[in-house]
Amino acid sequence: MAGPVVIAVVNHKGGCGKTTTAVNLGAALAMGNEEYGIQPRKILMIDLDPKGNIATTFGVDKKSLGTTMNELFKAGIDGPEVRIEECIIGPKQLTKSMKEAFVRQNPERKRGPPKGLEIENLWLLPADLDLAGIEIDLATRIGRENRLQRAIQGAVGHFDVVIVDTPASLGLLTVNALVASNWVLIPVQAEFYALENMSQLMNTVSDVQKAVNPNLRLFGITLTMVQRSKLSGTVADQARKHFGDRLFETEIPRLVAIAESPLDGAPIVIGQKPNKSNPGSAAYWELAREASKRINRIQESP
Ligand SMILES: Nc1ncnc2c1ncn2[C@@H]1O[C@H](COP(=O)(O)OP(=O)(O)OP(=O)(O)O)[C@@H](O)[C@H]1O
Ligand SMILES: [Mg+2]
Repeated sequence: MAGPVVIAVVNHKGGCGKTTTAVNLGAALAMGNEEYGIQPRKILMIDLDPKGNIATTFGVDKKSLGTTMNELFKAGIDGPEVRIEECIIGPKQLTKSMKEAFVRQNPERKRGPPKGLEIENLWLLPADLDLAGIEIDLATRIGRENRLQRAIQGAVGHFDVVIVDTPASLGLLTVNALVASNWVLIPVQAEFYALENMSQLMNTVSDVQKAVNPNLRLFGITLTMVQRSKLSGTVADQARKHFGDRLFETEIPRLVAIAESPLDGAPIVIGQKPNKSNPGSAAYWELAREASKRINRIQESP
């Protein structure tokens, strides 16, 4: 398949691990890891959530952001042209801000940030609160569902994989993500209503397929915040029955270390080596191994 693999990370249920999964998968695929059989790839990560958490995960001060996604959404239609390069944060700056964040959060560690606290091959298109107004601003505008696709079309060719994180809604921002993507990744929190809540999401995906983007397909379902319990097992069984091989074998465990990693100024796949002492990092690296294989298959197919 020609062109980059563009994956929207979607689930309108709040707090199910979308951002954590998008960030760790993006960072792992960018860095690559021989042991896990993952080759490094050029990744563009797009934050479509007005909360703008992805920038914060890398220690980027949101006040320092220049031209924002809001202006990019309107560029050349309801607002002045914007060069997408002006909005993207590159790997050098991400590395610098991760190191600065580490020093800020850990003033007692005199030796400074650890050596591995760096990233290559990863570019971030960040969001900020300005984006919250987009749904209202664009409500009556022409082409409101294609704005993201239009904004990034000149840039995506430079990347192997684009990952779009979306907010907890099926509103205009998420629809823009689905229109600009060719694959959907759904993180599902292992809880009782998880699968029941998904029929609405699958309907939206199917509406977007029918109306604007017939190329949209399911990249995978990943179970997040899994605890060793009967309930987690039941959700996993149901998901396997429903989604077959689209369900990733790797389950992401519920671990404080995963939630706390932004405190060290970096996603857990960068901040902690994947080994038995760091099961959270190891789980996301395992997920990246599976995702990497799927991406290879997609890119090898004619
Ligand atoms: N595997 C995990 N174990 C423990 N905590 C986790 C795990 N994954 C995510 N969290 C924490 O749970 C919260 C929600 O995660 P996250 O922000 O990734 O979800 P989200 O789906 O992006 O949320 P939203 O819908 O608000 O955008 C965060 O505080 C995060 O740090
Ligand atoms: Mg999120």
